[in-house]
Amino acid sequence: MSIKYQISKWIVWIGLTATTIMLSACQPNEDQQNMSEALAGKVVVYTSRQPHLIEPLFKRFTEETGVMVEFTSANEAALIERLVAEGEQTPADVFITVDAGNLWFAAERGLFQAIESESLTNDVPTALRDANNEWFGLSIRARTMVYHPDRVDVSQLSTYENLASPEWQGRLCLRTSRKVYNQSLVAMLIEHHGEERAQEIVEGWVSNLATDPFSSDTQLIKAVEAGQCDVGVVNTYYLGRLINETPNYPVALFWANQESTGVHVNVSGGGVTRYAPRPEMGQRLLEWLASEGAQAEFALRNLEFPVNPRVESSGIVATWGPFEADNTPLVVAGQRQAQAVQLMDRAGYR
Ligand SMILES: [Fe+2]
Repeated sequence: MSIKYQISKWIVWIGLTATTIMLSACQPNEDQQNMSEALAGKVVVYTSRQPHLIEPLFKRFTEETGVMVEFTSANEAALIERLVAEGEQTPADVFITVDAGNLWFAAERGLFQAIESESLTNDVPTALRDANNEWFGLSIRARTMVYHPDRVDVSQLSTYENLASPEWQGRLCLRTSRKVYNQSLVAMLIEHHGEERAQEIVEGWVSNLATDPFSSDTQLIKAVEAGQCDVGVVNTYYLGRLINETPNYPVALFWANQESTGVHVNVSGGGVTRYAPRPEMGQRLLEWLASEGAQAEFALRNLEFPVNPRVESSGIVATWGPFEADNTPLVVAGQRQAQAVQLMDRAGYR
C-alpha cells in the first residue's frame, strides 16, 4: 500500500470525523436518530396494491427516514396464504391490502399484531380501523352511484335501497357479487336494515338488472356510457381514471344516501404482521403513511380520499364535492361478510 494512499485515507477519515462532530454539535438528537435508522436498515412489505400506486410513497419514506422498503406485490389471497405458510419465518413486517373485508379476514387468520400508536389513533378515525388496532385504514374509497345525465334526471336518484324500486327496471348495472366491494356494501345493508329487508333490496336490484353483472367497475361505467344501462354502483376512483383519460366523460357521479346512512365507504389499509422481524419499523411505516405529509399523495395516486381528517382531497376527487360517509365501523364488513355472501346467493345475485 502506498504512503500516498494511506495519507489520503487519513484525510478522508479526519474529514468525516470532523463533519460528524460538527453535526453532533449542531443537532445531536437528529444525528443519533439518523444513525439508528441507518442501523435499522429496512422494512419489508407485502402488498396487494399495484406497485405504481405505492412505490413512489415508499421511495419518499426512504428519503425521509433512511429506512429502505423492500416490497412484494401480489393479489391479496396469495399474500394471505403466503403469510400463513411462512408463519414465524415470514420476512414481512407489514401487510397492506384493500377493503376492510380483506383486512378483517387477515386479522381473523391471526396475521396481524395489535399496535399501540398514538399517531395512528390520531390520524385514522375509529370507524376506519380495527377495534383491536391490528389494522388501520390508509385511504378511503367511496362506493356510490354513477349515472348517465342524458337518461337520468338527478332528482330521481337517492339511495342504494331505491335502486331496488320498479322505476329502475331494466336500467341498473352491477358488478358481480363475488367482488369483496359488493360483499362489504351488502354487509352494511344487513347492518342497517336487518337480513330480511336487505334481501328484499338485493332481490330488487337483481330484478332491475339491465344485463349480467360485470367483472369490473370500469366495464360497468362504460356500459352506462354506452347506454346499456342508466345507473350503477362503483368505486369512485374508477370513474376518476376514465375522466382523467377523457375530459368531459359523459358519466356523472351521485353521492348516495345523503339523507340517511351516508355513502358506503371502505378503505385500503394495513397492519404490522404478527411475526414481523422489525415490528417497530413496520409501525413507523404505517404511521408515516397515515401522516399529514404522506396522506395527500397516498390518496391522490389512486384518486381516493385521505383517511386523515386534517388532509384535504385534491384534483378530480375534490370536484365531486364533500359527502356524508356511512360511519359504521368497517369491521362490520368483515363480521357480516359470510352472511352477505349467502344473502346475495339466495337473492340470485351472481
Ligand atoms: Fe378497486
